[in-house]
Amino acid sequence: MVAKAVDVVIRQEKPQDRQHVFEVNASAFETGAEAKLVEALRFTAEPVISLVAILGDRLVGHIMFTPVKVQNVTGLPLTLALGPVAVVPDIQNRWIGSKLVRAGLAGCRALGAEAVFVLGHPRYYPRFGFQAAAPFGLRYESEEYDPFFMVLELRPKAMALMYGFVEYLPEFNEV
Ligand SMILES: CC(C)(COP(=O)(O)OP(=O)(O)OC[C@H]1O[C@@H](n2cnc3c(N)ncnc32)[C@H](O)[C@@H]1OP(=O)(O)O)[C@@H](O)C(=O)NCCC(=O)NCCS
Repeated sequence: MVAKAVDVVIRQEKPQDRQHVFEVNASAFETGAEAKLVEALRFTAEPVISLVAILGDRLVGHIMFTPVKVQNVTGLPLTLALGPVAVVPDIQNRWIGSKLVRAGLAGCRALGAEAVFVLGHPRYYPRFGFQAAAPFGLRYESEEYDPFFMVLELRPKAMALMYGFVEYLPEFNEV
C-alpha cells in the first residue's frame, strides 16, 4: 500500500515554535542530542535556514541549514550543510521530509549558496540531486564517512573549485 501524502505548510521557524521544534527533534532521533544541537545552532549559525512543517495546527517537522567551511575555499562563497531534518515518527514516510528538503534547498539558492553538503543516508538524499562528495575530493573528517557524505552543487561548476575537508560548526562535535 502506498502511503498518502499529507497537506503540510512549510514556513520559516518563528520564535514561538522553539519548544515544538525541540520536541520534534527529540521525538525523531534516538537521543536528545539533535534537539540540543538545533538549540545551540539557532544562536550561533549565521546565516541559518530553519523551516518547519505545519499540519493543521501541529508542528510536525523541522529542517536546518548552517554554514560550513570547505578547506581550500577562502573569501565569500557560501556553502551550507543540511541537517538535522526531522519528522515526528507517527507521520513519517508521507513526503513531509521531502517537502522540507526541497523548500530548504530553494532557501539555500535564494541565499546564493554555491553548494550544500549532507551527512546522511545514501539512499535518501540522491533523490534531491545529492551525490557522493568523495569523488570531488571533498571529505568529512575521515574516509569512514565517505559513503554518507554527499554534496549538491547549486552554482554550475562550483565544486570544480572546492576540495579538502569540510568543516561543520563546532556545535556539531558535541552530537
Ligand atoms: C529522515 C526523515 C526526515 C524523512 O522524512 P519523511 O517525511 O519520513 O520522508 P519522506 O516521506 O519524504 O521520504 C520517505 C523515504 O525516506 C526513507 N527514509 C525515511 N527515513 C529514513 C532514514 N532515516 N534514512 C534513510 N531513509 C529514510 C523512506 O524509506 C522512504 O524511502 P522510499 O521513498 O525509498 O520508500 C524522517 O524519516 C525522520 O525524521 N527520521 C528520523 C530522523 C533522521 O534520521 N533524520 C535524518 C538524519 S539528519
